[in-house]
Amino acid sequence: MTKLQIPSQHSETRSTDTMRIVFRSAEMPRDDGEESQIAATLKQCFDGMHEGRTYCEQIPQQRLLGYCGDRLVGHLGLDYRMIRIGEAIFSVVGIIDLCVVPDLRRRGLAQRLLAAAEKRSAAQDFSVLVAKDTRLYERTGYRLLAKADVTWLAIDELRCHGVSNRDLSDIFMQKPLSTKTWPKGPIDMLGFLF
Ligand SMILES: CC(C)(COP(=O)(O)OP(=O)(O)OC[C@H]1O[C@@H](n2cnc3c(N)ncnc32)[C@H](O)[C@@H]1OP(=O)(O)O)[C@@H](O)C(=O)NCCC(=O)NCCS
Repeated sequence: MTKLQIPSQHSETRSTDTMRIVFRSAEMPRDDGEESQIAATLKQCFDGMHEGRTYCEQIPQQRLLGYCGDRLVGHLGLDYRMIRIGEAIFSVVGIIDLCVVPDLRRRGLAQRLLAAAEKRSAAQDFSVLVAKDTRLYERTGYRLLAKADVTWLAIDELRCHGVSNRDLSDIFMQKPLSTKTWPKGPIDMLGFLF
């Protein structure tokens, strides 16, 4: 069975031309100012879907935050998990709530956040996400599955609503981070949908 390896919890800072990418983990001490900035950025980018929280369904295990100076301009959440595909178990990183503030879009910042997330997650078999608009992800090597019979824990308004099962071939995307090929077979997320 594949072993799930969660990257080390050390804080990491990487400078780029216009955006500094900062690593945060859920067990690090929280900074109220930063939490407010995350909530505000998610609110702005996702039209209030997060209802003022720093997460939608569940707090991500890790985050990559893009800063220009003191201003939070980009966000990407990462969640590590084992999932079942057919009869086999694989390690995945789920990409959650990727966003960039409106005035700095179309400069490649989201692609930088994605690349940094994949680099941190190189020990996983696959990177997985759900997207209605697939353009950014197609461009960076993610692919929709021809068939995606997915089972997941349905959470809405911070309550579990049971187990859902549906063909998500229009929105479920994956990118190999290893030499493994995504196999055929039903997908059991063993948790909520990223
Ligand atoms: C999607 C998003 C993160 C892209 O950020 P960005 O920094 O502008 O992205 P990049 O500059 O790296 O790449 C831009 C490309 O992303 C694609 N793109 C634009 N909006 C997109 C969207 N909502 N979803 C997916 N891809 C998108 C386009 O192909 C665009 O290039 P083009 O305009 O030349 O065709 C940003 O538009 C955003 O925050 N949108 C609101 C939140 C959101 O929908 N997040 C995605 C959740 S799955």
